[in-house]
Amino acid sequence: LANGLGLTPQMGWNSWNHFQCNIDEKVIKETADALVSTGLAKLGYIYVNIDDCWAEIHRDDNGNLLPRNSTFPSGIKGVADYVHSKGLKLGIYSDSGYYTCSRTMPGSLGHEEQDAKTFASWGVDYLKYDNCYNDGRKPTVRYPVMTRALMKAGRPIFFSLCEWGDLHPALWGSKVGNSWRTTNDIADNWASMISRIDANDVYADYARPGGWNDPDMLEVGNGGMTNDEYIAHFSLWAISKAPLILGCDVRNMTKETFDIISNKEVIAVNQDRLGVQGKKVRMEGDIENWAGPLSGYRFALVLLNLGPVRRSITSLWEDIGIPENSVVVARDVWEHKTLKTRFVGNLTATVPSHGCKMFVLKPIA
Ligand code: GLA
Repeated sequence: LANGLGLTPQMGWNSWNHFQCNIDEKVIKETADALVSTGLAKLGYIYVNIDDCWAEIHRDDNGNLLPRNSTFPSGIKGVADYVHSKGLKLGIYSDSGYYTCSRTMPGSLGHEEQDAKTFASWGVDYLKYDNCYNDGRKPTVRYPVMTRALMKAGRPIFFSLCEWGDLHPALWGSKVGNSWRTTNDIADNWASMISRIDANDVYADYARPGGWNDPDMLEVGNGGMTNDEYIAHFSLWAISKAPLILGCDVRNMTKETFDIISNKEVIAVNQDRLGVQGKKVRMEGDIENWAGPLSGYRFALVLLNLGPVRRSITSLWEDIGIPENSVVVARDVWEHKTLKTRFVGNLTATVPSHGCKMFVLKPIA
């Protein structure tokens, strides 16, 4: 969407994956505090996004949305002011139907202009827009109404489409939003995570600065996967130019979780200004190669092991798009080591079960 936002995939946090409906302004404010105190904000995680369940079930007499008084007594404006005072941005959630998916608050269908103005007046910087309880008209009809409303609201608002990939949003999303969900909801397990990134991969060619494929939010740190699995999760999201929206409780995370989500070199792959989504370039049974170009004639590479045992995995220059006889320097972005070997034609590494190795390759000759 040509609103000047999302020139690289959005980064931040969202309440849903960890808290679902158990949110209040204390959680949101403490999360903003934690993003700053841990240094995650400095690494780019700037959006603090409130998901479903923040509003009263009824609108006021003038049809305005009402923040739920029992959980958001300062209102969304109060929370936005607080988040802004920390140098961060505030995101909110609504729905292109009569209710949001939790059925605990109204959706914006028929109130698009009014709600967009309300969000802008509160200082909202980001809107995630869901697809539940709609009137049966296509998302291609319902979503652009909110796009236009946001464009007229007088404040730049990042627009995140959440229609779960139902009507191939990659094919029309770039004119409507800054990112579009390509999948159903992620769950905190390996099979779910892999199936989401696979479904997302199909649409790689549609991602570009200003509009990104969204395989759903991160589960890193929520406890359902091993550390190697979470490293693979984060690596695949990074190389796929997916939004890096944290879904754990950043107020209480382990060092292992922090080490994954704060890896600057992996984040740099995701945020590279070339903005080309990496793809699955080879699959053979349980092993896969994912690769994509980066700025400065560099390439990102993920060697992925889906199988139950440690494997040696080879990647070929021809799959990555590097001339076959090129001499390449490889940087292991999880070990933070530049390998001494100069590689010609291919690179082989040992990869743990349900894990990956990730490299940035630089042809030097
Ligand atoms: C849908 C969305 C989720 C979350 C919930 C909230 O399932 O896909 O990401 O926003 O609704 O109810």
